[in-house]
Parts: sequence; C-alpha cells; structure tokens
Amino acid sequence: KEKLIIDTDPGIDDALAIYCALQDNNAEVLALTTIFGNANIDITTENTLRLLDVFERDIPVYRGAAKPLVLAPKPAPAFVHGENGFGDIPQPKATRKEESLSAAQYIVNMANQHPGEITLVPLGPLTNLALALQLDPTLATKIKKVVLMGGNLHVPGNISSVAEANIYSDPHAADMVFTAQWPVTVVGLDVTHHVISTPEYFDRLEARSPVVGKFLNDITRFYMEFYQQHLDIAGCHVHDSSAIACALYPEWFEMEQGQLRVLCDEEFRGKVLMHKEMDQFFKYDPWKGLPTQNVAVKVDHDKVLNWMESL
Ligand code: BDR
Ligand code: CA
Repeated sequence: KEKLIIDTDPGIDDALAIYCALQDNNAEVLALTTIFGNANIDITTENTLRLLDVFERDIPVYRGAAKPLVLAPKPAPAFVHGENGFGDIPQPKATRKEESLSAAQYIVNMANQHPGEITLVPLGPLTNLALALQLDPTLATKIKKVVLMGGNLHVPGNISSVAEANIYSDPHAADMVFTAQWPVTVVGLDVTHHVISTPEYFDRLEARSPVVGKFLNDITRFYMEFYQQHLDIAGCHVHDSSAIACALYPEWFEMEQGQLRVLCDEEFRGKVLMHKEMDQFFKYDPWKGLPTQNVAVKVDHDKVLNWMESL
C-alpha cells in the first residue's frame, strides 16, 4: 500500500479526491494536513474534519499555514467553491477535532519515522511542504515522492493567463518544492482539463452510497454551475482526484521531464518554467544542480474516470 499524507484545502474537488483515496485499497491515508486556498484555513480545516465525519473515518487532521510564505494573502475565489468551500451547502459543525501539532511538523516527524516510505500529495498551495523543508533541510531525502495537483506547462492557466491557482497562491513555496531534492510529479491543467466528470457520475455515486454520494453530489452542484457558466462544459474538472490517481497509478500518465522553477514577480506570478539539460557549457547557469522532475502532460482519462467509478 502507498502511504499517503494528503495536504488539502477542501474545496469541492478536494472532497472527492479524499473520498477516492480513502476508498482505494492500494492507499493508506496516514493523515490529512490542511492549507489555506479554496477558503481560509479555519474553513478548510473545519471542512476536512467534517469530511471525515461524513466518510466515517478516523484519520488525524493537522492544521497548516494560513498564508503564503512571502506574499500577502489574497481572498479565496468564493465563486468556484462557495464561501464555505462546500458550494454554500450549509454543514453541521464537525464532531472530530484537529491534532495540536502543525502540519509541517507532522510531515517532518513522519518522514523521520518512515524514511523513504511516504508519498506527499498536496492538493492546494504548497506552503506546508515549504515550511517542512525549512524545519528540516534533509526532509527531501526522506520522502518517497511528492505528487501534487498544480501548475500548467503547455496550456494556459486558470487563475491568470499564465498560472494555475495552487501555484499562484504561493509561488515561493512552489519554487522551493520543485527545486528540492525529492522526486516531484506535477499533475496540472495539462492533464486535469481532460478528466471531466459529469452530473450523471455524481448521481450514480449517490445511488450507490446514499449518504456519502449525496453529500458529494450536493456540494458539486455549485462547482458544476461555475463550469457551465464560465467554461461552457457539461461537467467539471476534478483536478485533485487526478493527483491521487497519479500517486497510485503513474502508468496512466505520460510524463515530460525537466528542471522546474516558478516565477514569483507579480506579472508572471505562478508561471512554471521547464528546462531540459543542455550540452553547452555556461559559466553561469542558474539551472545547474537542480533536480529533474516530472510533469504529467497526457492522461488516459478513461482509466481515471473508470477508477473513480469503481470506488
Ligand atoms: C486547484 O485549485 C482549486 O480550486 C482546486 O481545489 C484545485 O486544487 C485547481 O486549479
Ligand atoms: Ca484543492
């Protein structure tokens, strides 16, 4: 089983992604760590606890960062996930409680307890991973891999013409994560825009599992409307589930390899740059020594959708 720590900002597609991870027998979800993003950290932490109530699963939840590493926080885009992060469907207060340790400290502790075994799956801004790298500079050598939802390489962004929302939200953190010496797989808009789930999928989920399926169906309505109004597609991108799928079944994805950096200046904020090894010698080469990482550029979308359907 893959030992996963999922770092999340629920968030409608986060909710479905966590459900998929919890349902898949090839995954062992050790904990959920929370991050600001689709809503503020109080809301995303509460929503994470609430999800575990709905899913009836006892998994520890660790609260993470409330704001980006360097930049001032921006308000969450409530028109995508609603003010409450769950499509403005009112929710009862979660009965579960968060742990006292911070997300970053928990990640460091687990990496030291299980060196080489843990896969980190961030589904939101990358601040917690960057903070964990700051806490323990040797962390990268003790993590098996990082498989994250974020970024865009050959396609436009979704929060600006050049950037995807998770990377945009904390570009300095993303740059630290991409340049650390651990294997990173970026699952971004190049592939998530090809994985489209339909209202019928959510209806089938509800018919199969009335409580959990109804919850996911209800919160997703809002998200579907956003997609219909703004992108004119009869369904929605389930971005975060694709990262879970890629963490467990990388063979469904085609990767492009190169060194990665993230631009942090306001104009190009969150733009991901990829560089391929060169033969030429330069006295000054800012790419020198940076690790080669993977970016998913193609996906067998039927495999991902069938997998979701099977859970
Ligand atoms: C990402 O941003 C959030 O809106 C989603 O939850 C996903 O993680 C897509 O750009
Ligand atoms: Ca997310």
